[in-house]
Amino acid sequence: MTDGVTPASSAPGYLPGTDMPRFIRDMMEFVGMTDADVSAIRRSAPIVLGHEGALTSALYDHFVKFPRSAVFFLGADGEVDKVRIERRKHSLGRWLRETAEIALTSEFSYYVLSVALAHGHREQPPGAIPQHLVVGAMSLTQSALATIFAAELGAEEAAAASVAWNKLLLVQLSVFMLAYVPPRRVL
Ligand code: HEM
Repeated sequence: MTDGVTPASSAPGYLPGTDMPRFIRDMMEFVGMTDADVSAIRRSAPIVLGHEGALTSALYDHFVKFPRSAVFFLGADGEVDKVRIERRKHSLGRWLRETAEIALTSEFSYYVLSVALAHGHREQPPGAIPQHLVVGAMSLTQSALATIFAAELGAEEAAAASVAWNKLLLVQLSVFMLAYVPPRRVL
């Protein structure tokens, strides 16, 4: 969108979708992701991946409990489509594995954008996943990880892992949110 005065091409800033590595780098900086956080994520990654099945099941079991989220997983017969749920768990597992690697590659940053678009620009009925459910799902993920870290690590290491993962997940959430607003230049 423009203000009708400034030509879009000369407005300051850039469109996040045209430079996702920069957007993610800038967000990492904004949330204060330090080298210590990156190390805490790398150290805790094996624990997270060791619980991949439990984490993905916890999220999807939760989704199907509420009509407002279950509606996205129903088959033609109106029942929860178990095959579709298994496919979705598989996709979520891939996302978790790639996130745990905190890959800062261009390919990964556009992968996250494509996942965001799969939710926000979903065309088939019942349409886009409401953004507040995506926010809620990120909260569920944070809580599930904090519980796992508390059970498996000492207090200090658990706190460091939770803080670092919270930053990383909300950087991802900021990418998800791009799918819900019209493209807009940012600084
Ligand atoms: C933490 C938040 C979430 C993450 C990380 C996540 C992750 C993913 C991934 C990786 C995919 C595959 C995208 C692709 O095709 O490449 C996907 C698809 C999908 N997700 Fe999510 N998801 C989240 C939240 C939700 C929520 C809250 C719902 C619904 C209540 C949902 C419903 C779906 C559906 C229906 C698809 C299939 C999209 C399509 O029809 O093509 N997701 N999700």
